[in-house]
Order: sequence, then C-alpha cells, then structure tokens
Amino acid sequence: MTDCLVDAIDIDRSFPDGSTSHVSVLRSVSCRIMLGDRIALTGPSGSGKSTLLHILGGLDEPTKGKVTWPALGARDTLRPEKISFVFQTPSLFSALTIIENIALPLAMAGKEKQGIARAAALLEALELVGLATKLPEEISGGQAQRVAIARAVITKPLLILADEPTGQLDGQTAASVIDFLIEAVEKTGSALIVATHDQRIVERLEKVWAITHGQLSTFAPAIKSKRRIP
Ligand SMILES: Nc1ncnc2c1ncn2[C@@H]1O[C@H](COP(=O)(O)OP(=O)(O)O)[C@@H](O)[C@H]1O
Ligand SMILES: [Mg+2]
Repeated sequence: MTDCLVDAIDIDRSFPDGSTSHVSVLRSVSCRIMLGDRIALTGPSGSGKSTLLHILGGLDEPTKGKVTWPALGARDTLRPEKISFVFQTPSLFSALTIIENIALPLAMAGKEKQGIARAAALLEALELVGLATKLPEEISGGQAQRVAIARAVITKPLLILADEPTGQLDGQTAASVIDFLIEAVEKTGSALIVATHDQRIVERLEKVWAITHGQLSTFAPAIKSKRRIP
C-alpha cells in the first residue's frame, strides 16, 4: 500500500485570456502529497494557489502533465469521502441547518443517519452544540468557517485542501480557526494542505510550498510539527 495521496508530474495549467493567447498559470509543476503531510501553500494573490489546489483535489484538470491519486484511486471516486475542501468564502448551504450542512458529505454518500449522528458528535466535540439548528445566516464568519471545517472532516478524509480558510477573518478569529483545523486533522489523521498568506499559519505546518511565476518550490521548514500520524 502506497503512502502517496497525490502525485502531480510536470503539470501546466493555462487559461484562455479572451483573445487567441493563453495565460500560463502553472508551469512544469511536480509535487506529491504523502499520508499525514501538513503543507502550507504560499504565493502572492493570483499566483495559482487555488488553481493548484483544484487540480490536486481533482476539481480541475491540468492542460499538460499528469495527476494521479495512488493511495486513493480514480479521480471520480475522490469525493465526497476521500478528499475534502475548505473554501475561502462562505460555502455553507443557506437552506440547510448547521447540523445538516455538516452531515451533507455523508448524506451525499448515502449515509444520512450516520451523517447526522457524527455531525452531532462533532458539534459537541467542537463546542458548537448551540448552533445545530441555526441557519448559516444566523452565525458569525468565524463560526461558519469552523462549521465548514467540521463538514470537511466528517468523512475522515485522507486529505483536506483548505483554500485561504482564514482569509476573511480577523487575526484572533483566524488563529482560533486554524487551531481548530489542525486539531481536527490530528484527530482524523488527514493530510492537510493550506493555501495561505499568513506567516503564523505557515509556521504551524510542517512543509512549505511556494508558487512564484508559475513554478513551485518545496522546502523543509525551520519549524516542524511535533505530532505525526503513527
Ligand atoms: N477559470 C479561470 N479562467 C481564467 N483565468 C483563471 C481561471 N481561474 C484562475 N484564473 C487565473 O489564474 C491566475 C491564478 O489564479 P488563482 O489560482 O485563483 O490564484 P491565487 O489562488 O493564488 O490567488 C489568475 O491570474 C487568475 O485570473
Ligand atoms: Mg485563491
């Protein structure tokens, strides 16, 4: 059994720019996400962080090169159970209550009962019980991001891709949301990649990937996470 969750080899991604040419966003990017990895993905706004996360999560395809999920299987089997996303912007379904939002990935997998039971346990563990029957419009931005994280961990995915999950939060709320995310993946053993501009988040993660001018550099960080997946 391989420990490699995602293997991207020499990928390019370009987009049509409205005329006959293309904007080249990612160029010759190769990277791997291994079981239990904790990765910060950095780069200026518009550098291609979201584009790369979408490709690594199977939401988008590279223009050139190859992405495989050796430990997970074919692209069409990745969601909702093996890979989860946490988006930057509010992503809860406005017509569903908080507990229903959290249970949704399991409900989509045909496990509705298990979903509600596990969502209730998650709400309790996360001290969010009071929010269970509220609607997304009734809770704060920081609470909504915690709920989005609970929704991402409910399937115990092997990989969570978080795209600037604290980008819209103030510093203190951002810090508590990131604590929550790291604690959650430590419980589930999920690998985690977080696109972020926040140096405090980068310091919490074990590896740093940086995109500059379409190219990815990966380097070992000064600060290492103390805990690893057994
Ligand atoms: N669907 C798309 N169509 C056209 N251009 C896109 C599309 N998605 C992203 N881009 C362009 O790709 C570049 C990188 O975008 P993105 O991956 O969102 O960057 P980041 O997440 O680092 O801010 C930007 O110039 C953006 O305009
Ligand atoms: Mg982005």
